[in-house]
Amino acid sequence: MTRFARHRMLTGMFAASLLAAATPSFAQEVRLDVPYVPTSQTTVDEMLKIANVTAKDYVIDLGSGDGRIVVSAAKLGATAMGVDINPQRIKESHENAKAAGVTDKVKFFQQDLFQTKFSDATVLTMYLLPSVNLRLRPTILNEMKPGTRIVSHDFDMGDWKPDQFKDLGTDQVYFWLVPAKVEGAWTAKVGADSYKFDLTQKFQEVSGTATMGGKTLKVENGRLAGENFTFELVDGGNRRVMMGKVSGGSITGKDWSATKG
Ligand SMILES: C[S@@+](CC[C@H](N)C(=O)[O-])C[C@H]1O[C@@H](n2cnc3c(N)ncnc32)[C@H](O)[C@@H]1O
Repeated sequence: MTRFARHRMLTGMFAASLLAAATPSFAQEVRLDVPYVPTSQTTVDEMLKIANVTAKDYVIDLGSGDGRIVVSAAKLGATAMGVDINPQRIKESHENAKAAGVTDKVKFFQQDLFQTKFSDATVLTMYLLPSVNLRLRPTILNEMKPGTRIVSHDFDMGDWKPDQFKDLGTDQVYFWLVPAKVEGAWTAKVGADSYKFDLTQKFQEVSGTATMGGKTLKVENGRLAGENFTFELVDGGNRRVMMGKVSGGSITGKDWSATKG
């Protein structure tokens, strides 16, 4: 099935799930924001591979279905948590974790993903809907640590471009790193020179100016990969590649540093 056919199916089923809310059943008590469509095991494996999940990770799957992403992450040694609003899915998840022998590494909770604290995950996985991704985006960008890995099956994050994208033919995998925040004014020491940086940030992309005395240089092609910041300092025809690590209000490079303000 193509991405668009599946998108139509997901959104079509979504409408159906709302209609079902009028019938006296589980659906009467809970409103599904996304219908249940499981990710194929091949795509689960690709999602965990693109995020480079290891035993050091804490993986959270929002809307975890039958727990397949959580169980697969645990099989790689990670600890993992899944939340799903449908109690039937949570029951299946416990059964699947038991069958895979990973009950000590996983937790499943029947709860609303919008009421779930997920900022302590090192990897966040999602197979939701574009509108749901966009509702989660501010929390991801503002509350998750720089460098946190985000993976989404099939759906993007609007104008936050993915850092990696893999087209598997029937499925697509999107990958982002939560970028550090560098927008605004910085005082930088580059060798013996002092600069005032004024940076503009759009997600992982950065541009701006660097002023020293009456001279203004350009900051171009700035890019954040989590807390790793790379840009070019452009002085006429000269381009100098600068690299540094952002940690809160400071940036530290090999032969330069900056502090916020
Ligand atoms: C497309 S399925 C993805 C399942 C699983 N993550 C996977 O990739 O196989 C979306 C899941 O989100 C769940 N869901 C829908 N709305 C939810 C909400 N508000 N809170 C938690 N789970 C929700 C559904 O029950 C469903 O299992």
